[in-house]
Amino acid sequence: MARTPVTVTVTGAAGQIGYALLFRIASGQLLGADTPVKLRLLEIPQGVKAAEGTAMELDDCAFPLLRSIDIHDDPRHGFDGANVALLVGARPRTKGMERGDLLEANGGIFKPQGQAINEVAADDIRVLVVGNPANTNALIARAAAPDVPADRFTAMTRLDHNRAITQLAKKLDAPVSEVKKLTIWGNHSATQYPDVFHAEVRGENAAAAVNDEAWLNDTFIPTVAKRGAAIIEARGASSAASAANAAIDHVHDWVNGTPEGDWTSAGIVSDGSYGVPEGLISSFPVVSRNGRWEIVQGLEINEFSRTRIDASVAELIEERDAVQKLGLI
Ligand code: NAD
Ligand code: LMR
Repeated sequence: MARTPVTVTVTGAAGQIGYALLFRIASGQLLGADTPVKLRLLEIPQGVKAAEGTAMELDDCAFPLLRSIDIHDDPRHGFDGANVALLVGARPRTKGMERGDLLEANGGIFKPQGQAINEVAADDIRVLVVGNPANTNALIARAAAPDVPADRFTAMTRLDHNRAITQLAKKLDAPVSEVKKLTIWGNHSATQYPDVFHAEVRGENAAAAVNDEAWLNDTFIPTVAKRGAAIIEARGASSAASAANAAIDHVHDWVNGTPEGDWTSAGIVSDGSYGVPEGLISSFPVVSRNGRWEIVQGLEINEFSRTRIDASVAELIEERDAVQKLGLI
C-alpha cells in the first residue's frame, strides 16, 4: 500500500542550496524511495518568480514520488501541515555588518517562522536550520514555538561532520566508509571542535592511528572549521551542493535511524550533557533511535578536547545572550 505523503517545507527555495536540495528531496533521497512528498517552497516575494522556475523544472523531472509543489511568501501558508521543515533562507552577512546586526536581521526571519511553525505545522514537525548562524537561528525559532517539543528543533553540523570524515580518511589513506564515531562539538562556526579521540578508522582508534597532535591542532581542526570560508574564497559563493547533501543526510538519519556501531553529529537542544548548558543548541555526538536524536553518553573528554568544546560553547552562550538582549528569545 502506498505510504501517506510527507509534507516538506523548504525556505530559501530559490537560493543555491535550495536548487541543490529540492531535486534530491523530490527523488526520494530525503525520506526514502517509498515515501511520496508534497513540497512547499517558502521565499520572500522577490524570490517567488525564481522558485516558480525551479518548480517548473521539478515538474519536468516527472519524479514518481512528487505529489505537489506549492509556493508561498507567507510563513503561515508555507509551513501549513509541514512534517519536515528545512530552514535554509537566511540573511547573509554583508559588508560593514557586525555579528549583532546579523543576529538581529535573522531574528526577523526565524522568530516569525518559529511562530508560524507553532501555529500551523503538523504535530510531528521536525525542523532543521541550515541558514547561518544556524545554531542561534534554531534557538530563536524554537523559542517562538512553545507548543512544539524542543527536541524537534535542530541545527546543521552534518556538513562539518562529513568534512571531518574526509580529511581524516585522507590522512590515514582509508576509504571514508571506514571512518566511524567522529564528533563535531559546539557551534557551526570557526570555533567548532572536530573530535577524533573516540573516532575509529578501520576499527582502530583514530587519534592513536594519527599519533600527531600538531597535525590535529594545526591542520585538521582549522581545515574543517574554516572549510566554509575556504569554499567561499574558491567558489565566490558559499557551499551549496555539499550543504544540501548534509541536510539530506541529517533528515534521512533522523527519520530512518543511524546505523548500528556508528554515530553522527547534529546541533540539538542540550540537556546539560558534557557540561553544555541546558537549552543551548549545540553540536553533539548523536544517534537517532525511533525518530529521535539521542546524545551518545559516557565519552571520556580529555583536556585537549575540553578546552576546545568549552571555547565553542562559550561562543554559543555569547550568541544566546545577544539574542536575549534583542528580545528574540
Ligand atoms: P542564497 O543567498 O543563495 O539563498 C538564500 C535564499 O533565501 C534566497 O533565495 C532568499 O530570497 C531566501 N530568503 C531570504 N530570506 C528569506 C525568508 N525570510 N524566507 C524565505 N526565504 C528567504 O544562500 P544559500 O547559499 O542557499 O545559503 C543559505 C544559508 O545557508 C546561508 O545562511 C548560508 O550561510 C547557510 N549555510 C549553512 C551551512 C551549514 O552547514 N549550516 C552550509 C552552507 C550554507
Ligand atoms: C559553510 O560551512 O560552508 C557555510 O556555513 C559557510 C557560510 O558562511 O555560508
